[in-house]
Order: sequence, then structure tokens, then C-alpha cells
Amino acid sequence: MDIERIVYPDGERHVRVGNPGKSPLIFSKLRSADDLWDISLLADAMRGRGAKRVTLIAPYLGYSRQDRRVYPGDAAGGPLLLRQLAAAGVTRVVTTDLHSDKLMKGAGLAVTSVDPWPLFAAALKKRLGRTPLTIAGPDHGAFKRARAVAGRLKSASAAWVEKHRVSGTRILSGLLHGRVKGELAVIVDDICSTGVTIEAAAKALRKAGIRRIWVAVTHAVFSEGAAKRLERLGVERLLISDTLPKPKIRMPIETVSVRSLLKRAAR
Ligand code: R5P
Repeated sequence: MDIERIVYPDGERHVRVGNPGKSPLIFSKLRSADDLWDISLLADAMRGRGAKRVTLIAPYLGYSRQDRRVYPGDAAGGPLLLRQLAAAGVTRVVTTDLHSDKLMKGAGLAVTSVDPWPLFAAALKKRLGRTPLTIAGPDHGAFKRARAVAGRLKSASAAWVEKHRVSGTRILSGLLHGRVKGELAVIVDDICSTGVTIEAAAKALRKAGIRRIWVAVTHAVFSEGAAKRLERLGVERLLISDTLPKPKIRMPIETVSVRSLLKRAAR
């Protein structure tokens, strides 16, 4: 399908599409307000040209951590973003390891989240074989993920660390729950942004006798300072998926690809 994008001298954007067919797909990153606006213009143009359904494949769905109003007066950015996409004409969103199931309902469009963790578990199994190890979630929510990964490995136990967030960049290490096995722990999470969540979990694991840390995260957001933080922690290896660009970091990185999972889910 032909897509013509115009940026006017005042910065406004415009989109014109050729024949989109009945069910076009948009494959796009969605991290910023500009991304949201570009996708919205495209979906609106497609619907205006006769598309009955528009599916957006957004490997990483920004704003998904704002899945609800935590304090009175908070905006709920995640549900709002989905409502905005629906208003523009998107009928389905396919993404990866969605931060919260709460986002799946009530937005006026269908949301599908693909699970990359069987791929991560296979990559860990290949590299570690039967090495005794601990798979650790850095908060209670991530324990389910840790258990699922540990269950796919022959010699792993699952644990999780209590998380007490003081601010956006400060977290206090809490108690460790579950069983620690071996001297290596793999911390598993959906997102690494500042890295403070990983840092707090690593500290608790080290107190419990863990000497070596690997990190596996689906979305390598890596805001400023995150790479340094993980380097300082002595993380030995980083496993990520390809939902976001590879961060610049001084340690071996292994990438699992979710592209075919996303394409299959969008069919
Ligand atoms: C929070 O609930 C998420 O699952 C991640 O743990 C969090 O977004 C990581 O952020 P940061 O790297 O800034 O600690």
C-alpha cells in the first residue's frame, strides 16, 4: 500500500494512503506522543479509505505501566492511550508481554499480548544446561514469570524480592521469598528502564548468597543511567527481546526475536 507522509512547514503532519484493503496492519513503535499521532493519522486515513479493521502491531506498548490511577488525581495513561487508538480507528492491538492484564478490557478495541518467556527459557536452557540456578522476579508481580521460566529448566528454583519504591529512581531492597539454588540468579522482568528495580533485587539476592547475576527483560527501555547501573552491579549477561533497539552496554547481550510471534498473533 502506498503511504505518503507530509510534514508541513509549521510542523503539522499529514498522511495519505493508497488502497489499504479490508484489514490492513500497521507495524510501528509506540513510545512517544509523536508515535501515537503518526499511528492515529495512518489508521484514520485507512478507515477513511474503506478499511473495515485496522490492526496495530506495537512490539512495545509505551505508557502501559500507567495501567490505573494509583493516587486520586492521577491520569491513567495506558487506558487513555488505548482509547485514543480506538478513536482513531484501530480495532486491534498486538503487543508483547503487556505490563498488566487490566489494559486488555474496556478500551473499545481488542488487545493481544504475546509471551516471549518460553523463548527466553529456551535460550537459558541452551546456555546453562543443568546448572543449578535461581530465577528471580524483582517484585511479587514478576514471581509468576519466574516460576514459569524455572518450570521450563531442569535445575532451577523460583524466588521473588519485595519491592518498596520510594521514587522513580529509588527502590529499597525488600525481603527475598521462595527458594535460592546455586550461585547464579537470573532476574526476570518485563521492563528495564532506570535499572533500579534490578539493582534492588540483585542486592537482596547477593545477601542470600547469590554470587553471579544475569538479567532477562522483554523490553530494554534503558533510560539514561541504566546501562551504567547494571555494569556497576556486575551483571554478567543480559538477555533481551527485539521489541526495542539494543542498549549500549558493556556486557554480552543475547537477543530473542518475538517478530514471528507477533506476526502469527496478528493474522
Ligand atoms: C514495574 O512494575 C515493571 O514491571 C518494572 O519492574 C519497572 O518498570 C522497571 O523500571 P525501572 O528499571 O525504572 O526500575
